[in-house]
Amino acid sequence: MSQTVLGCNNVSHWFGTKRVLNNVNLEIAAGQILAVVGPSGCGKSTLLRAILGTHPPKAGEITANGVPVTKPNRNVGIVYQNYSLYDFLTARDNVAFGLMLDQTSLSRRVFQYFHWRQLREEQRAQATELLDKVNLGHAINLFPHEMSGGMRQRVAIAQALIMKPKILLLDEPFGALDEATREELQVMLLQLYQENIDARSVGKTPPHTILMVTHELNEALYVSDRIIGLSQYHSEGANGATVVYDKPAPVFRPNDPRDFEQFEGQKDELRTAVFDPEINQHHSDYVSFWKDHSKHAES
Ligand SMILES: Nc1ncnc2c1ncn2[C@@H]1O[C@H](COP(=O)(O)OP(=O)(O)OP(=O)(O)O)[C@@H](O)[C@H]1O
Ligand SMILES: [Mg+2]
Repeated sequence: MSQTVLGCNNVSHWFGTKRVLNNVNLEIAAGQILAVVGPSGCGKSTLLRAILGTHPPKAGEITANGVPVTKPNRNVGIVYQNYSLYDFLTARDNVAFGLMLDQTSLSRRVFQYFHWRQLREEQRAQATELLDKVNLGHAINLFPHEMSGGMRQRVAIAQALIMKPKILLLDEPFGALDEATREELQVMLLQLYQENIDARSVGKTPPHTILMVTHELNEALYVSDRIIGLSQYHSEGANGATVVYDKPAPVFRPNDPRDFEQFEGQKDELRTAVFDPEINQHHSDYVSFWKDHSKHAES
């Protein structure tokens, strides 16, 4: 099987007596773009915070790049819905900021000034490259107050990508944007996925592994290659939400027409398996991604 970037092994979480997550198991391979959907309040953000390492789970284990996650670390990056940038920095310097903190100490700035300047130029060049990637090459010198919401969110994504996380978490990243801007950012994710396809075709490790929470089913199916349903609606749901749906999603290239008609069948299945409070299925009934994958590999 391809390289595992993220593993959740029987991850459970609760707040006091309120059980939120119950034995969440996930194995994510390099280059996958997963969409996570689930009823409001089921624990999607709680799961992301556990993976990020800011709020480790009460039980179970999470590994990123093979290393147990117990605190925030370089393997995992995140962008939220209302991500705020540094008002006093341009788009380019906002993106370079993380690298600057990481690579240059104050003493270096003072005692190795010329070397520091050279490094800073390299960091800025990388930031420019990243901004190009998110289609903001024309806006590198703008300050946040000069940008639209969609542009700011692109900068936030570039800011996360420049740190080269093994996995990037997106928690409803386009939720605050208007429809047209949202569509543009969805295409930007397809462009990142295209980079994965290109890397694979020349035998390289795909660079972008993304786990994205969204409440929009069309968006989930359009941008991802695998869709996860997290839900408390299953036969043991009293103990909290778990993965009740895990199947491939149709793959789109950036220039493909947005044909959402073909999603209807899978959307119905998701509504039943993930969002229907009346359903009393076993949680694994719709969890078949890796099973199908290994059958595929055998045949
Ligand atoms: N710090 C906390 N203390 C107590 N309860 C909490 C805390 N954080 C979250 N919860 C509860 O845990 C449950 C899961 O919350 P979470 O924010 O993870 O849900 P979500 O799936 O992201 O919801 P949404 O779709 O609305 O964003 C909710 O019932 C919430 O009220
Ligand atoms: Mg949430």
